[in-house]
Amino acid sequence: MSERDQELRESAAEEIKKHKERVESDPYRLSFHHMPPVGLLNDPNGLVQWNGTYHLFYQWMPFDTGHGAKFWGHYTSEDLMKWNHEKPALTPSDWFDKNGVYSGSAIVHNDLLYLFYTGNVKDENGNRETYQCMAVSGDGVNFEKKGVVVELPEGYTAHFRDPKVWKQGEHWYMVIGAQSEDLQGKAALLRSDNLYDWKHLGDITGSGENELGSFGYMWECPDVFRLEDQDILLVSPQGLESDGMDFANTYQSGYFAGKLNYDQAEFKHGDFRELDRGFEFYAPQTTLDEKGRRILVGWMGVPDQYEQSHPTIEHQWIHCLTMPRELTWNGSQIIQSPLEEMKEMRGPVLMHSSITIENDQKAVRGIEGRPVELNIEFERLDDQFAIELFQYASISYKDEVLTLSRPHLEDKTKTEFRRVPLQQGLKQLHLFIDHSTLEIFVNGGEEVFSSRIYPQPEEERILFTSLGTSTFSVEQWKLGG
Ligand code: FRU
Repeated sequence: MSERDQELRESAAEEIKKHKERVESDPYRLSFHHMPPVGLLNDPNGLVQWNGTYHLFYQWMPFDTGHGAKFWGHYTSEDLMKWNHEKPALTPSDWFDKNGVYSGSAIVHNDLLYLFYTGNVKDENGNRETYQCMAVSGDGVNFEKKGVVVELPEGYTAHFRDPKVWKQGEHWYMVIGAQSEDLQGKAALLRSDNLYDWKHLGDITGSGENELGSFGYMWECPDVFRLEDQDILLVSPQGLESDGMDFANTYQSGYFAGKLNYDQAEFKHGDFRELDRGFEFYAPQTTLDEKGRRILVGWMGVPDQYEQSHPTIEHQWIHCLTMPRELTWNGSQIIQSPLEEMKEMRGPVLMHSSITIENDQKAVRGIEGRPVELNIEFERLDDQFAIELFQYASISYKDEVLTLSRPHLEDKTKTEFRRVPLQQGLKQLHLFIDHSTLEIFVNGGEEVFSSRIYPQPEEERILFTSLGTSTFSVEQWKLGG
């Protein structure tokens, strides 16, 4: 451990101590989501399972509720439900990462845990440099930096970051989020046989009818993996214009599915599809766990999207990660499901009943509280239907469009909306609500909305409204943790 590393660790530990009471007294602290102990959290990093233990790292700024020279915070778990907060895995202590140990990934090889990340460096004039770096651990808590393994190839600006590494056949591959010199978002593909020497194969591109053209000025946090017979390229593009119900957040996250020729970096793919329709979702990352499940975790935040308006900053912390989700392929799209393990967090069923309401709004007795899981399955929906949560957010369905609304985070006199069309109608809403988060899995995970919500802490009511007749069953569990 270098002197600088030691110094940074001590300052971060002091910062946690200094603000502990203020942070922990926040009624918006969460019971089953990953949060920073103080300061700002952004992207999930290095999600991996190693000898049974799940490791989940995150971008962490201990000293501020804004962005800056990031650390890698570190959580571990045996079961994806109970998590231990470990000491920080990496600090911005070296010349090649002094302005931030930026996002990256983890792999297991020869009984060692390898981390790949971007070393962010700003020179004295504020010019950016970028280095793709590696660190190794034999025990899963102490990481030894091995330095730079990839320098910036020609043809890109210094916006070249977020290496995701995986093994495919005989080779290791790395995909990196990039901006080409003509300011287009790209995913650069590299290959290695020893994890130290990397050959740049080119950008993952389509040709002919698959030519993408201009699709944002920068792609962050790419990920490549297989689901059934599909190659998936997950990416967080910046610079897409909002378009009807699509691309409503400041920046997006979504995927292309198709067939990737790894050695030519050529990709035959379908259209880009957003992964999540909520107000806060960005920079997701996946891993294949030892049970063979493709698990995804995202950041429940969006860069530059009124970040300083989240009320938690009064308590010296901001942002959290989404619940881990399992991804499957249904023949035409990715399906996202809450993990099977979530059932273990359930207390006894508080409510299971079939309800009919007609041209009415009603609070169904017993349906209230946080943290809570609600599974609502529809038998009949004549016209419009809505759920009002804690006099704060509302989920409504009308004319085959599902809408989530909440008070505008910056201007409370306004309401803001996120919407998605449901061509097959509304069949199911599966809600997971923590003290200040809402995750909605729609129709068995065809669509998901992830959002922060900030109702009055004592407000517990959930109201159902219907125009025409709505008949639905509700199951409710209190969630422990
Ligand atoms: C995405 C991102 C990454 C970068 C990291 C820095 O939110 O901007 O591209 O590595 O955050 O914290």
